Amino acid sequence: MSSVLFREKAWRFLLELLETERAIILCDSNTKECLEYLYVACPKTKDLPIIEMPAGEQNKTLKTCEMAWYQLTEHSADRNTILLNLGGGVVTDLGGFVASTFMRGIRFVNIPTSLLGMVDAAIGGKTGVDFGGLKNMIGTFSQPEAVLIDSNFLKTLPSRQYRNGLAEVLKHAFISDSSILGMMDANEDELISRSIQVKLEVVVRDEFESGERKKLNFGHTIGHAIESHLLKSEQEVLHGEAIAAGMIMESWLSHKISGLPESELSSICSVIDSVFSRISISETEWTAMKKLLIYDKKNRDGQVQFVLIQRIGDAVIDQPASQELLDGAFKFYINQA
Ligand SMILES: NC(=O)c1ccc[n+]([C@@H]2O[C@H](COP(=O)([O-])OP(=O)(O)OC[C@H]3O[C@@H](n4cnc5c(N)ncnc54)[C@H](O)[C@@H]3O)[C@@H](O)[C@H]2O)c1
Ligand SMILES: [Zn+2]
Repeated sequence: MSSVLFREKAWRFLLELLETERAIILCDSNTKECLEYLYVACPKTKDLPIIEMPAGEQNKTLKTCEMAWYQLTEHSADRNTILLNLGGGVVTDLGGFVASTFMRGIRFVNIPTSLLGMVDAAIGGKTGVDFGGLKNMIGTFSQPEAVLIDSNFLKTLPSRQYRNGLAEVLKHAFISDSSILGMMDANEDELISRSIQVKLEVVVRDEFESGERKKLNFGHTIGHAIESHLLKSEQEVLHGEAIAAGMIMESWLSHKISGLPESELSSICSVIDSVFSRISISETEWTAMKKLLIYDKKNRDGQVQFVLIQRIGDAVIDQPASQELLDGAFKFYINQA
């Protein structure tokens, strides 16, 4: 697993790397704003060529990769050139894929600038782009040389995007480290580093996703169905917002199936409600969402499988739930709102 370095250590690493190696920066049309701080943190980056992609998930495509591969060639990149991915999960996913395929693979360093990027997307070695209307269909498992974390980048991140990342931080707390919950209003750096620790531990135990890594899907089984369904409606919902709703419903399932105490179910709901408003979902929409659940990658033999929690900080994988319980989870979510 590649190393995750914080602040001074991160910038020292980059400085040393740039003493001997050639590098090119990949950013998007928003994260180019982050160059200003990058130049302060590591002045040696000032002279590096920049490849800028248009921001947004809709640009996480092979077309953008082609543009990036083309520009790498224009800048005479070779097998020793290092790609510095400066941005959110879109830039690190796409940049990692571009690097891992260019000339059969060049090295890359992730410099995440969104909270979601820091605690999730930039870490773990999954790269990729969307294809044929499906998310992350084309990609590789390739580890970055290093992941450089500096919360100063978050100053320019829009607050809705910040909350989007908090959903994954909360997920890490619920599946593995309840102490994160105590840091919500206080220590941002500690919150980020604990959250990263959870992702790293899970990924190290299961780099290629056979078992343990499934724990990271807590809230995501129902969350993805909500997200996919609402993509087609006019109600715009971010990944983290859908996952927050998914975590409330899957916590209720956990209470019914895997013994999550009622008091912990309440704590989970109140911490999620302190960050996110409930999404309005009609009965008809729920019926459509349930249909989408059966397409979930984690299904086996037609049964929907969930990651559930037994206590806050302790998750179990491969838990089936009946249709009645699924409907119960939905009622719990909308009635409490
Ligand atoms: N590889 C993985 O394991 C993994 C895990 C989770 C998510 N992902 C991927 O990550 C992507 C989502 O990541 P995201 O939420 O960071 O989205 P994103 O990269 O689109 O960033 C969100 C928005 O914030 C902007 N932004 C980012 N940092 C900024 C900053 N410091 N200041 C101002 N604006 C800034 C971006 O330009 C964008 O408009 C998805 O494509 C998802 O598939 C990958
Ligand atoms: Zn997620």
